[in-house]
Amino acid sequence: MSKIGTGLKGVVLDETRIAFIDGDAGKLVYRGYNIHDLAQHATFEETSYLLLHGALPTRDQLDMFEEDLRNARAIPRSVIDTIDRVKAAHPMDILRTAVSAVTALDESSNDARVDVALPAGVRLIAQVATIVAAMHRMRAGKEPVAPRRDLGHAANFLYMMFGDEPAAEDAKIIDLDLVLHAEHSSNASTFAARVAAGTGADLGSAIVAAIATLKGPFHGGAAEAVQKTVEEIGDPERAVEYIKEKTEAGEKVMGFGHRVYKTEDPRASELRGVAQALGHQKGNDRWFQILTEIERAMEPYRAKGIYPNVDFYAGAVYSLLGIPEEQFIPMFAVGRMPGWVAHVLEQYQDNVLIRPLLEYTGPRHLRYVPIDRR
Ligand code: ACO
Repeated sequence: MSKIGTGLKGVVLDETRIAFIDGDAGKLVYRGYNIHDLAQHATFEETSYLLLHGALPTRDQLDMFEEDLRNARAIPRSVIDTIDRVKAAHPMDILRTAVSAVTALDESSNDARVDVALPAGVRLIAQVATIVAAMHRMRAGKEPVAPRRDLGHAANFLYMMFGDEPAAEDAKIIDLDLVLHAEHSSNASTFAARVAAGTGADLGSAIVAAIATLKGPFHGGAAEAVQKTVEEIGDPERAVEYIKEKTEAGEKVMGFGHRVYKTEDPRASELRGVAQALGHQKGNDRWFQILTEIERAMEPYRAKGIYPNVDFYAGAVYSLLGIPEEQFIPMFAVGRMPGWVAHVLEQYQDNVLIRPLLEYTGPRHLRYVPIDRR
């Protein structure tokens, strides 16, 4: 009997120098730097540079990188028009369509070489943030807001979403959130990007494949599901009973469990304190209390290695900052962009076509039956 690795669980696909995850120790490392160290000290721009180039930037390198991002923020009018045409669709479908449009218009759109894909990737990191903000506004019947050159990536993103310059502390929270989401090794969407890149497809095609894969509730959709759960529970006192009903019905509790982490996701540890402090600052302690009660109700699952993942607190943080639930997965994409690009570049550098096998279990000797005899 052949060995089947359903879901490729535990299968090591290739070597990488981009990120290291120790799922038993709850450790995440980008290019050698622990996520807690980066969360405390690095901006999203610095983290992006680190992921793309493999080393932290010098002051000059960071200045140039930030300038490249600023120069790429604006998106063509034709892409805005494309968003307008599909704005009633699911936000991830809008994002996928807009990224497809913006990359098809890019001169690199048919070129799968590292020296072309790297600058194209930097442009796309900037443009995806603009696309998400523009779609958010256009879905509400508002005009998109043009990017500002004097703001950092996170602050400019909030500015383009809401039309007002954000408070420095709100921008810092989004910056942290983007750092935490920037990279996570061979997760499903990054794997999809590497599969596309492995065929020799260009960066834009690989990123569209990643966005399509991120859409699902088992990957990018969990933060939205958690926030819906929190709102449905409504009162901290109802949380334990609600979770009991869910788990007894055999349903998974969103924001818990992870293919790799069998202890607490270190990104969840970072966001827990943020969700608590932000809730307090915005006069809404209730959501954090509900989340705390859900965690308490899920304690028996720790024995099975089921702990909160990054999405557990992310939803509350976004909601407290005024970002609507439907934009949570697009937000994830804004953060994950540098990781996706870094993996596409790594795939190009030492490419082997990714093509696993499937074990066929259907019939093998059927004879064709003419249509009017079936
Ligand atoms: N709630 C309750 N039980 C759970 C949960 C959960 N959230 N997650 C896993 N389990 C249980 C499973 O039912 C299974 O139990 P069993 O052995 O009795 O059958 C066991 O734990 C192992 O679970 P699997 O689904 O096999 O684990 P897998 O590695 O395939 O799944 C996944 C990981 C998909 C993330 C899963 O934990 C899940 O669906 N969680 C909820 C969705 C979620 O939060 N997704 C975000 C992931 S993080 C991210 O993408 C950013």
